[in-house]
Amino acid sequence: MRIALGCDHGGFPLKAKVAEVVKSCGHEIVDLGTDSSCSVDYPDYGLTGGLAIARREADRAILLCGSGIGISVAANKVPGVRAGVCHDTYSAHQGVEHDDMNVLCLGARIVGEALALEIVQSFLNARYTNEERHARRLAKLLEIERRANSGEWTQAS
Ligand code: RB5
Repeated sequence: MRIALGCDHGGFPLKAKVAEVVKSCGHEIVDLGTDSSCSVDYPDYGLTGGLAIARREADRAILLCGSGIGISVAANKVPGVRAGVCHDTYSAHQGVEHDDMNVLCLGARIVGEALALEIVQSFLNARYTNEERHARRLAKLLEIERRANSGEWTQAS
């Protein structure tokens, strides 16, 4: 798979190790920066990661910030993105298997390196099952997204 990898300065300390694991699992990295510990704004990197998915420049993305929260909120604003913060291996594979999660977000200030790398592997090895109940729920998510983007909930009548 092509895996987009992006982070802000809070996630930067984990980035190189995550890239190593992604490559050692046989995947290609689409590097979205940032490339140093200099302070940057997580919405910029959440957006870039989300766009990599929306534009099909990557099959999945891994996004890192200090907590995982800000960058996941930003990425989830992009249509087609299903980003989740996972700080355990169960969520990282179940999120893909049941929810077709396509973006993994990690907080480099929350999880240690060893756990983070196991979480990354769980995410990469998981596949969406497409079982009937999961497909039904995914269709409902996509319908929420369609309606949100149509403006029907926000336009004045
Ligand atoms: C940066 O200091 C920090 O706020 C950011 O990495 C992230 O944790 C936001 O959710």
